[in-house]
Amino acid sequence: MKVLIVGSGGREHALAWALKSSPQVEKLYCAPGNAGIAKTAECVPIKAEELEKLADFAAEKKIDLTVVGPEAPLCAGIADVFLARGLRVFGPDKRAAMLEGSKDFAKAFMLKYGIPTARGKACTDAASARAYIRGEFSSGARGIVVKADGLAAGKGVLVARSEEEALAFSDQCFEGEFGSAGSKVVIEEMLSGEEASLFALCDGKTITALAPAQDHKRIFDNDEGPNTGGMGAYSPAPVVNDVVARRIDEKILEPFLRGVQQEKLRFRGVIFVGLMVENDEPKVLEFNVRFGDPETQPVMRRFEGDLADVLFKTATGDLEHASIGWKKTPAVSVVIASGGYPGKYEKGKPISGLEAAEAAGTVVFHAGTAEKDGKIVTAGGRVLGVSATGETIADAIANAYRGVEKISFDGAFFRKDIGAKALKKR
Ligand code: AMP
Ligand code: GLY
Repeated sequence: MKVLIVGSGGREHALAWALKSSPQVEKLYCAPGNAGIAKTAECVPIKAEELEKLADFAAEKKIDLTVVGPEAPLCAGIADVFLARGLRVFGPDKRAAMLEGSKDFAKAFMLKYGIPTARGKACTDAASARAYIRGEFSSGARGIVVKADGLAAGKGVLVARSEEEALAFSDQCFEGEFGSAGSKVVIEEMLSGEEASLFALCDGKTITALAPAQDHKRIFDNDEGPNTGGMGAYSPAPVVNDVVARRIDEKILEPFLRGVQQEKLRFRGVIFVGLMVENDEPKVLEFNVRFGDPETQPVMRRFEGDLADVLFKTATGDLEHASIGWKKTPAVSVVIASGGYPGKYEKGKPISGLEAAEAAGTVVFHAGTAEKDGKIVTAGGRVLGVSATGETIADAIANAYRGVEKISFDGAFFRKDIGAKALKKR
């Protein structure tokens, strides 16, 4: 098989790492990739948003399967472009990608198919949004969640504790802060509990949950500070115990599949369910139509099987015959970010200690890195994900941080408590 991965983050590096070990993969490409992926796959200088160029490349190289990492090309219709040209692709088409691309679409889908989620309302003008927010607070809400309807690179959601904050954010959306993504706003009841990330493969006929994981969205220890793309993750997520896992299957994944079928959505890819779990009851915070980053890193460290075969079967409607297993050992991945992230940060800082981290037994997934004059330098906010497994979650954490300690660059920043929540649960 010739496989093309689209994207350039830690998620894509983890997918490349797992795909590389498939005996079926004869050639692996990644567009555009990064300095770490370049050691595993041939990187091609085409951006993830250049749909036609990607399709030209896939046709020219006779790619057997294209695996799409990020949401932007999926929501822009990369699967439609590929399918129209007879090219196999792992990822939903444009209409199905609205499950991530429009919070209102996703909410309506959840309501229609009885999937548990926060109560909410979509508003298309500032005045009705203000009225709804005021109404919620005057009926005693402790807080409220305001979401720009469309894709906003992770910045379109505010969990507001006060009416003023909520009103200001909602106004910002309608004033164009997020472009057309904010011309509609979904306002939701604030849920409490513990978050988890669950990926499930779906080919329109079968839906199969992968190992659950947990992200660390805030920049600072103890979940403080602003939200980021994710500062580290581990798998499994103890909050998804057997009872919760069964409820996810029955109350979320099975209705999801029914919805996909009834709405005739072409969904051959991965659905990433962002969950809030309270008293063993899972509710959906959001759907994403792609793998999560950094959750994919620990999940891939635990995956047992032939990933190329599994993704190929998902893309071709044969998921029921795919074989998926998991290592019992937990895995942890710690993100090292550029100082200043998620705000302003500098790029181009030389990175040292990558080999030493690998020698210490970790696998280092690259995110924002580039090669310059033969040296690996920083090129993004989240730079690396240092991953390790261990007999216990405590071992996995210790092993991952052993690698983290070896790596340095000017301004390097990482959280010191990745996995701490899972430790408390044992
Ligand atoms: P989303 O992009 O919808 O997942 O929202 C981003 C983050 O906002 C989630 O990971 C949660 O931390 C938080 N969030 C979203 N919706 C809610 C909700 N209804 N209640 C509480 N927190 C939420
Ligand atoms: N880690 C959260 C996400 O990928 O959206």
